[in-house]
Amino acid sequence: MDRWQTSLQLYERAQKVLPGGVNSNVRISSPPFPLFFERAAGALLVDVDGNEYIDYALGQGPHFLGHSHPAILDAVNAAMRQGQLYAGQSRLEVEVAETVVRLVPCAEMVRFGLSGSEMVQATMRLARAVTGRTTIVRFEGHYHGWFDNVLLGVAPAVTADTPRTARHPQTMTAGQVASVADDFLVLPWNDLALVEQLFAERGHEIALVMSEGMMCNTGAILPAPGFLAGLRRLCDEYGSLLHLDEVITGFRLGLSGAQGAFGVTPDLATFGKAMAGGFPNAALAGKAVYMRRFAQDVNHSGTFNSNIISMAASSAALAELERDNGAVYRHVERVGGALMAGIRGIANRLELPLLVQGVPSAFHLSFTDLSAIREYRDYALHCDKDRYNRFTLELLRRGIRVINRGIWYVSAAHTDAQIAQTLAAVEDALRAVA
Ligand SMILES: Cc1ncc(COP(=O)(O)O)c(C=O)c1O
Repeated sequence: MDRWQTSLQLYERAQKVLPGGVNSNVRISSPPFPLFFERAAGALLVDVDGNEYIDYALGQGPHFLGHSHPAILDAVNAAMRQGQLYAGQSRLEVEVAETVVRLVPCAEMVRFGLSGSEMVQATMRLARAVTGRTTIVRFEGHYHGWFDNVLLGVAPAVTADTPRTARHPQTMTAGQVASVADDFLVLPWNDLALVEQLFAERGHEIALVMSEGMMCNTGAILPAPGFLAGLRRLCDEYGSLLHLDEVITGFRLGLSGAQGAFGVTPDLATFGKAMAGGFPNAALAGKAVYMRRFAQDVNHSGTFNSNIISMAASSAALAELERDNGAVYRHVERVGGALMAGIRGIANRLELPLLVQGVPSAFHLSFTDLSAIREYRDYALHCDKDRYNRFTLELLRRGIRVINRGIWYVSAAHTDAQIAQTLAAVEDALRAVA
């Protein structure tokens, strides 16, 4: 623990004034304990003890362009000097909305907020207003924020015998109102026959089908061929709305997100993370015929929505993402692809059952004998999480920071040299947990 002495002291202080020493429960379980950081630039993160890390956590996703991107910082710095909040509109928010409308297939209109969690709430309210129905279909292992009505089915206890048919989900935290589960039906993901069966039985009750565009919160699982198109078809047939939650995939899988990458246009989509380069901004985008209800009878509000700092950050981030015809995406594809292939090669050589799956900008590592993870249950039942935790700690000791639930994010700032350095550390760390 010597190398994290200052972090440890701060952690001890923090625990006296911040429950668990953190401000987001997601951070509690990072081995060896929640570390403290002092600065970050590009793909590098430095902790309070001066240890340097190549970062694949990237703020849990937002830093697709790297930490402290100069163009974003300059834009924020200049804009905020003209004020931060007007309790009124600014030119910037119109420009950012126009850019989102131009880039995202389903986006005819946009509303901004500060977090993905909030925009998911707005989505559900809107879908219920539009359809006059209350039931929402969700999928196991998908995460849509921490509020009562969505912290459901994220990490359910399952066994090989757990029925695969639609169920009301279990609550996940003390204090959560149990009755929220009544309005939700949760299914394994990527199994269209199950969704078809559910729609045949209860389609006329379903307001909304909510899905990550690619399942990044448990694994990095691509939609099975025809799965998203099948959801689209069922929603159309039964008058339900389709929501793709693109808080992770938006502006990461490409300028048009998962909906562009997989060719399925939802009615509504939520964005956050990569759209503002590390600053808080999030959006709900969708078809105008539905979105206009926010101007009529559906409430969506927020003191800090579309504040100048968030808008300036998004404006600059989107400009960087669009630069040179998406050069950042080509870079991430190349370095992330090399990293995935390199890790696979090392694991093969060491004869370790390490599965690397996903896309170069967001991939997942797990110790498993499976040849692919296709849904949450594969991960829950067949992956060795303890070993992966030990692996992440060994990586950290070697200057590589990853999220311990298995996902690796790659940014436009990662260099070939950093990828090579990472692969050397991966080899060492794998040997340590072999
Ligand atoms: C798919 C998805 N939706 C919603 C959220 C919640 O976003 P936030 O943490 O900004 O509230 C997340 C967060 O990781 C997410 O991954």
